[in-house]
Amino acid sequence: MLNKLKQDAFKKIEEAKTLKEMEAFYRQYLGRKGELSRFLRSLGDFPEKERKEKGKLANQIKEELSKLIEKKKKEFQTSGFKVQSEDKLDITAPGLKLPQGHLHPMTLVQRKVEEIFQGMGFLVADGPEIETEYYNFNALNIPQNHPARDLWDTFWLKDAPLLLRTHTSPVQVRYMEKHSPALRIIVPGRCFRHEATDTTHEAVFHQVEGLMVDKDVSVGNFKAVIEGFLKQFFGPDTKMRLRPSYFPFVEPGFEIDIKRKQGDWLELMGAGMVHPNVFKSVGYKANRWQGFAFGFGLERLTMIKYGIDNIRLFFDNDLRFLKQF
Ligand code: FA5
Repeated sequence: MLNKLKQDAFKKIEEAKTLKEMEAFYRQYLGRKGELSRFLRSLGDFPEKERKEKGKLANQIKEELSKLIEKKKKEFQTSGFKVQSEDKLDITAPGLKLPQGHLHPMTLVQRKVEEIFQGMGFLVADGPEIETEYYNFNALNIPQNHPARDLWDTFWLKDAPLLLRTHTSPVQVRYMEKHSPALRIIVPGRCFRHEATDTTHEAVFHQVEGLMVDKDVSVGNFKAVIEGFLKQFFGPDTKMRLRPSYFPFVEPGFEIDIKRKQGDWLELMGAGMVHPNVFKSVGYKANRWQGFAFGFGLERLTMIKYGIDNIRLFFDNDLRFLKQF
């Protein structure tokens, strides 16, 4: 009886043409009420010797049948368009949704910043992250042993006088050396400082430098450009304040704070009118050209925009944070 069952089952399964047929055969033989399952359950009615022999044979057949059915099922599933009528690919069925990646909040903000400044006639420029002492300090009116060097806690490289740039300002010098005025650039880029970190300070962070040089550029132009940018970026109700400050490469110098959603002021940028000594170091006639420069923190800008209170979140790679953008 078992051998007959085996022969029938194998023949039917080999001849099956569709996945549905296969599934029906599975139920017919191996399902809970299937022929083989019922036979196995009835083994208790046989005398012990016979029970052992038949049990062994039935289990063998069960195993072989299962394997064959699995193999055939896989063939049907992978043969795609070759399957028979009722298994045809249903192109109207909803597809599998693949998870889609998206841009990091810092990338989104950097692109927006570039777009706004490009709209005001600024070009996007670039410079090296490993800098010489000359470009990071000397050419910016910060000679050796000048106390202002302490403003930037510097990572010096073994091959001094090389260092990791502490700000994007060296690109002002590099750009002016190669281009004649008038000019307007912004320079987004990574900076490095050997300083204690907290919720608004990281050792590695990003700045955006800005530089505009022309014949009659004034503090008024600077204020108009920055206000224009901040209002486009944050919205028309943005509140900013300008405080006098000191940077050796500008005169006069300012710092600009923005009012956060939390109600407090956060320092966003340093700025000022380009110092005549910087123009001299790039070979411009200081009495002929005027310009303003600024440098702001891209993380700070993003923090104010989205109400983020800890700078560390940007580079922790925590998906719960990143998925919100
Ligand atoms: C400077 O780095 C000047 N180069 C800016 C400048 C450019 C002044 C051109 C005048 C003319 P400061 O050290 O203040 O300045 O940094 C500028 C901005 O970078 C800060 O306002 C802040 O937004 C951001 N920043 C500075 N240090 C960090 C830090 N450790 N982590 C995150 N952001 C920082």
